[in-house]
Amino acid sequence: MPLLLKNCRILVNDKVYSKNILVKKDKISKITNKEPKADGIIDVNNNFVLPGLIDVHVHMREPGLTHKEDFLTGSMAAAKGGITTILDMPNTIPPTTTVAALEEKRKLASKSVVNYGFNFGATLNNLSDIKKAKNIASVKLYMDATTGAMKVEDFDSITDIFRASKLTIIHAEDMNVKAAIDILIKNKIKNKLHVAHVSSAKELQYAKQNSIKKQVSVEVTPNHLFMNEKYIQTLGAFAEMKPRLKTEHDQKALWDGIKNGEVDIIATDHAPHLREEKEQANYPFGVPGLETMLPLLLDAFNQNNITLQKIMQLCCENPAKIFKIKNKGFLKEGYDADLVIADLDKRQAVRNEDLLTKCRWSPFDGKILKGWPVMTIVNGNVVYDNGQINDVKAKEVQYGR
Ligand code: DOR
Ligand code: ZN
Repeated sequence: MPLLLKNCRILVNDKVYSKNILVKKDKISKITNKEPKADGIIDVNNNFVLPGLIDVHVHMREPGLTHKEDFLTGSMAAAKGGITTILDMPNTIPPTTTVAALEEKRKLASKSVVNYGFNFGATLNNLSDIKKAKNIASVKLYMDATTGAMKVEDFDSITDIFRASKLTIIHAEDMNVKAAIDILIKNKIKNKLHVAHVSSAKELQYAKQNSIKKQVSVEVTPNHLFMNEKYIQTLGAFAEMKPRLKTEHDQKALWDGIKNGEVDIIATDHAPHLREEKEQANYPFGVPGLETMLPLLLDAFNQNNITLQKIMQLCCENPAKIFKIKNKGFLKEGYDADLVIADLDKRQAVRNEDLLTKCRWSPFDGKILKGWPVMTIVNGNVVYDNGQINDVKAKEVQYGR
């Protein structure tokens, strides 16, 4: 059933082209000026077509916390946000720190409508599971507090984890970013380190100004790019996350990092919690983000704060390269047909009642944004179309390492 997307605007090396895209089965078959025969035709009306976004930092909450989110609701939210691949985080109940828990999660994830992969959790003593775990995106190591008890503080254990894992994601704050990098340098470990949610000028400096900066990749979240600590005054717990929102100076440093190439990836850190939970005195940390990341970035594009090329690089290409995800992240013939159609002129407010995430709130509620995804295609199937979800199951991603 070939599908033809007609009148697409695409971006190649910073130049805009008008093309037709032929999708055959789950692949991009041709990007062409011609009009090849197809069973289905979608007129894209000169909207932009980008590779589907790859979000390397998502808390899908399944198993154990499915009152907050599950693989179906979370993946529907992702599709609505133009995200076609998510990498899930391990702080579920049970945590994804054993081979058995990983295999159980793998079964649960099969209901996802976007493609998925798993970040495996590190503990003080699960090296043998880390070595046995099959087809994982990375090993996630918490050096600071998070939702769930996953903190590893012992430097010898951290060193062993860095040695065992080709790619470790660290949740490290402030001086711990430096500590993690110092461990790699001191022990001459050549494996890669991905620093999740860098939130301050200081953390960015630690991550990128050292002798092994090529070994280290930097992630920032839309939360820290589009909010700062002032938001806590008005939103209270609904703007509380780890790492905490920082000053306007720090916020600017992250934008400078995007411009000067120090930031490698933008990821949501989608961390849904129910309203009732946030309203308690000992509220949990984290905010949802799957449905707002791309609209926020497209709005920033419309305000000349970021280029489309940069959005593609940080949300599609670099995630695929750094996590070595096969056949994704690029709009090229032969690649997987994971696509998002973006209407750059569409102006709309973020509205809690429109959200598909189970928690149904956003710190950006009420914010008017210009630039929205209008259709999302996953493995050649239209999964999101102007407000409607088509429940077609997606696949687990594979890695080239
Ligand atoms: O704000 C956060 N929320 N930071 C974390 O480290 C975990 C996350 C969550 O799982 O809720
Ligand atoms: Zn997280």
